[in-house]
Amino acid sequence: MATPAMIRHTTRMIRVLSRRMSACYTRPLANGTKGERKRLVIAIDGPSGAGKGTIARAVARELGYRHVDTGAMYRAVAWLAQERQVPAEDERAIAALAESAQLDVGDRVVIEGRDVTSAIRTAEMDRAAATVARMPTVRRVLVARQHALGQDGGIVMEGRDIGTVVFPRADVKIYLDADPAERARRRAGDPAHTGGRTALADVATAMADRDRTDATRTASPLVIAPDAVHVDTTGVPVDDVVKTVMTVVEERGSRAMG
Ligand code: DC
Repeated sequence: MATPAMIRHTTRMIRVLSRRMSACYTRPLANGTKGERKRLVIAIDGPSGAGKGTIARAVARELGYRHVDTGAMYRAVAWLAQERQVPAEDERAIAALAESAQLDVGDRVVIEGRDVTSAIRTAEMDRAAATVARMPTVRRVLVARQHALGQDGGIVMEGRDIGTVVFPRADVKIYLDADPAERARRRAGDPAHTGGRTALADVATAMADRDRTDATRTASPLVIAPDAVHVDTTGVPVDDVVKTVMTVVEERGSRAMG
């Protein structure tokens, strides 16, 4: 049960936050009235297990923005290619699937009417998605789709190349990272991923392999955009990371308003 003091505190926080937000993103019009609120593009990049999903979702919720997990797009395409028995090396056929497939990456991941939310979070799909993500033609197709999703702003998009390739002029760029041992621990404990069934050492080895693939592939390797704010989440509680990101959003957001 919420006590009166808790309700007063929450109400005060909501008031402070909404005042801050409107101060940040509302450009006053020449006649002195409030202008349109700019809906920002927020890019969150980083390696797996850095906390992108949790943080991007929380930031999107705070701002009332859409959250898009682009990794889920690569995973869903890899899943569909397997389902349709497309040979893993047939880049053209996989790119054609990526282009034509009905794909929704909201709370659930749905491709061609199939809910694959859980099916794409397996060790096999980790590998298959990394292979698909190495294919320049597939990337071109998915980057165009990602760009279309965010062109009106009001979006928090997470991935590996959002601030460098998809939205090089994003209003806010965050690079989330954590030390490899912690990233492996998080991934091993993630029920959506291994269901706690995979040994930590195996998760750590597979993750190191995948990090190497993501960072050394020729097509859009994982790199830190020079204008990204680097946030190390090692040992930092989720709420504190969200606060840090929201502070960056407020600063950069007001700058984006000129
Ligand atoms: O974030 P994730 O583990 O769900 O991503 C799945 C794969 O897709 C992973 O190998 C990285 C790759 N990926 C990418 O290359 N570019 C993105 N924007 C998102 C993910």
